[in-house]
Amino acid sequence: MKKILITGAAGQLGRALAKEYKSEDVLLVLTEAVACDGMEVMDITDPDAVSTICEKHKPDVIINCAAATNVDGCEADEAGAYRINAEGVHNLAMMASEFGSKFFQISTDYVFSGSADEPYLEDDTPDPVSAYGRTKLAGEREALMCCSRTFLIRTEWLYGEGHNFVRTMLKLAESRDEVSVVDDQIGSPTSAKELARLIHYLEGTENFGIYHGTCRGQCSWADLAETVFEITGKAVRVERISSEEYKKRNPKSAFRPAYSVLSHDRLDRLDPPFVMKEWRDALEEYLK
Ligand SMILES: NC(=O)c1ccc[n+]([C@@H]2O[C@H](COP(=O)([O-])OP(=O)(O)OC[C@H]3O[C@@H](n4cnc5c(N)ncnc54)[C@H](OP(=O)(O)O)[C@@H]3O)[C@@H](O)[C@H]2O)c1
Repeated sequence: MKKILITGAAGQLGRALAKEYKSEDVLLVLTEAVACDGMEVMDITDPDAVSTICEKHKPDVIINCAAATNVDGCEADEAGAYRINAEGVHNLAMMASEFGSKFFQISTDYVFSGSADEPYLEDDTPDPVSAYGRTKLAGEREALMCCSRTFLIRTEWLYGEGHNFVRTMLKLAESRDEVSVVDDQIGSPTSAKELARLIHYLEGTENFGIYHGTCRGQCSWADLAETVFEITGKAVRVERISSEEYKKRNPKSAFRPAYSVLSHDRLDRLDPPFVMKEWRDALEEYLK
């Protein structure tokens, strides 16, 4: 039986993966509190804890969904974020290398500055402008350097079971008839379920390397908010504001890239190509 170790299993992607693999002939070793057999507690920043769990289970695959994901929080404590997003990745990638496991590291569009005007290719040179982006880039380098069997998947604007923009909009709709949302940042909202489907597919291959795992198409945060309200039938108006205006109202917020669209060049070149859903279709499925 194949053994798959999923870290950060209580997070959005971790939960989606636990569902994606549910009916498979695999043993899932989940870290953190998910109501499921095979659960372990493991702090990825603790090399001894990581080594103990890996020695115990000898996983065939390690999927790292653990991360410091609070972008503003990373700005306030970059050293703390580095421990999780880079040193934690190092600990896991070293173990993957030792056991010959396939290693999945999930990264982000925030490794790019967002100054481009066409989709970022997988091999474009990263140039992060936030603490979150810098620490995730350091994690990318650890993964690729320490483990030759690495799948590095960049995703963005993720929503699933947990805290995310879509749920924030639905929560606000309970008490407001207008919300202010940035309309000059462009990206691709991505469902954790779709990303889990991609990981499952790649896990069955030996096509290691860098991929962009995002839903197809693009929109602004304001477009996304309007679409959430439209699909769920909420009568909420969206006031479109600039990033500059948002920063004025939220001075402690981190810089976010203006253009975050990621090319699917590598997925398109797989045989057969792997096609992620259009963002709107995936969102409708999620909101149902
Ligand atoms: N969310 C997005 O919009 C987005 C965008 C681009 C890329 N990504 C990347 O996609 C991946 C999955 O994101 P997500 O949204 O599923 O994240 P999430 O919901 O924030 O989940 C992250 C999980 O990691 C756990 N964790 C944090 N520090 C840990 C540590 N030292 N040891 C073990 N577990 C730890 C967290 O536990 P606690 O909650 O207890 O801390 C949480 O359960 C991450 O690599 C993230 O950087 C996410």
